[in-house]
Amino acid sequence: MCGIVGYIGKRPAYPILIKGLHRLEYRGYDSAGVALINDQNELTVLKTKGKVADLERYAESKDTSGTIGIAHTRWATHGEPNDRNAHPHYSQSKNLAIIHNGIIENYAVLKTALQKEGFTFQSDTDTEVLVQLIEYVQQNNHCDLCQAVQLALQEVIGAYAIAVIERGNPDLIIAARKSSPLVVGIGEDEFFLASDATPIVEYTHEVVYLEDEEVAIIERNKPLKIVNFKNVEKPLHIKTLEMSISQLEKGGYPHFMLKEIYEQPRTIIDCIRGRINPEGTDVILSGVLDHQEKFLHANRIIIVACGTSWHAGLIGEHLIEDLCRIPVEVEYASEFRYRHPIVRPDDIVIAISQSGETADTLAAVEIARKAGAFIYGICNVIGSSIPRATDSGSYIHVGPEIGVASTKAFTGQVTVLAMLALTIGKLRGSIEPERYHQLIRQLQLIPQKMKTVLGLSDQLADLSKIFTYAHNFIYLGRGYNYPVALEGALKLKEISYIHAEGYPAAEMKHGPIALIDNEMPVIAIATTDSVYEKTISNIQEIKARHGRVVALVTEGNHDVAAMADHVIEIPQVDECLMPLVVSIPLQMLAYYIAINKNRNVDQPRNLAKSVTVE
Ligand code: AGP
Ligand code: GLU
Repeated sequence: MCGIVGYIGKRPAYPILIKGLHRLEYRGYDSAGVALINDQNELTVLKTKGKVADLERYAESKDTSGTIGIAHTRWATHGEPNDRNAHPHYSQSKNLAIIHNGIIENYAVLKTALQKEGFTFQSDTDTEVLVQLIEYVQQNNHCDLCQAVQLALQEVIGAYAIAVIERGNPDLIIAARKSSPLVVGIGEDEFFLASDATPIVEYTHEVVYLEDEEVAIIERNKPLKIVNFKNVEKPLHIKTLEMSISQLEKGGYPHFMLKEIYEQPRTIIDCIRGRINPEGTDVILSGVLDHQEKFLHANRIIIVACGTSWHAGLIGEHLIEDLCRIPVEVEYASEFRYRHPIVRPDDIVIAISQSGETADTLAAVEIARKAGAFIYGICNVIGSSIPRATDSGSYIHVGPEIGVASTKAFTGQVTVLAMLALTIGKLRGSIEPERYHQLIRQLQLIPQKMKTVLGLSDQLADLSKIFTYAHNFIYLGRGYNYPVALEGALKLKEISYIHAEGYPAAEMKHGPIALIDNEMPVIAIATTDSVYEKTISNIQEIKARHGRVVALVTEGNHDVAAMADHVIEIPQVDECLMPLVVSIPLQMLAYYIAINKNRNVDQPRNLAKSVTVE
């Protein structure tokens, strides 16, 4: 996590760096800092605990001149978030300054060795160890900055995206990566550097994504050069960004999260665009159709993901088992990677990740690759690490998701999973043609149904006031709606800090029902589907113990109103697409409760948008 920005060119660097940090603040926001080289060739580091706005206040009276600089917004892994531990970090002589995203796993061994050589440390971070190591290598080998970085990184175990600048060398930034993302933007007589393309897109659309163990030599008035640790030059793969600036702004909404909730009818249209033929009779998912043999002969599908993406994976399990009759296992990537999993060459591993950078999911992909499985990625961020590490895949195309709590990415993931299941189901002949066509028609109606549920916002805002001061929540659902219950609970936890649990409704009687009393709000998803009657019995059990039930039901259902305390009516949708619609009121409820509690919904405490560390 954490965001990295760099600039070298003809303009003052500081405003570009600050703007870039604001764009990347979703990645981490416990402290921020900047390092600049001014016209006198002095290297200055300005940093402080807090957000980018705190850094701006702190830097107001300081020298922020210079046309080269690097900047960082942190999500602490080593050392508490305070001024000392904020990046950039100086080397011992203050000749070098570094910013870093990732973890130097062998930092303790390196630190002890450097201490023996007389180095002293100002912070508790692993990052400072790296900059001291670079300085040590530079002094001992009498080499230039690039060589020192190349040599030092060969001693390092861990994950990093780094940028280093040097006092007296105002024309050079050295950057490198392994397992953490880094993008270089190529402008006219200027270069930009960032953890993702969002700080770059307003200046240039030409970018180069660094690969693992590559070093970028970014020099003023010279072409960009990429080398490996042995200094062998690599070809430049320049990509053109498709992103636009308006996608990165709030567009009149008070928060990114609310904007992203409201964007969903459009993002689903973008997600299915070009993937359903003009007659509306066929799904064309090229990532599957280009590898038909793999999908025809797959014996099992394993889905790996974390957090919200894992919840989407659980819905994928239902969809694929229902429509394709292939057994599916859904795994937390973080567990999968460490439990010696059995993966066979005829398995297909699907990695789901909004950011495409989640370290655990990426590691799970590597395990699957070594086992010889075919790997399919479902990601949002174009050009990110997971899509580059997979054999095939589908982007969800929902545009940049800035709010830390995932909303539109979740519905995009479920939409792709539905299209994937339809495509495989048709290929394998496991889905009746009539059902196939019916689901395609239903999928195309989803954006309209989403608009209808967005119209419930006033009702949800009113409801949120009743429950703002609850200390706990339970979310219940069955079948396709069970993962939606988990996701609803996660949304509430993340942004309101209220404890919430999701359960399959029938599991309540095996223990959790002991929690029910008249202070326990229970959000029960009871839309009309194959398990509706069963869910109703579960709601009765809650009511019999005086729980306070908010039921989400299908439009026109008046039976539940008689037993529930509050009812939210959702338009009729086929059972297997219901998660796409019913998740939206849960997103809105969490949002309004968090707003009532005055929480920072876009940047909730302790979290970061992309978890690039284990
Ligand atoms: C979602 O609201 C979360 N902030 C989090 O659970 C997220 O879904 C998880 O970290 C996985 O991220 P990814 O989709 O980018 O891999
Ligand atoms: N490990 C570094 C630190 O704790 C960088 C963390 C990050 O990538 O956010 O400062």
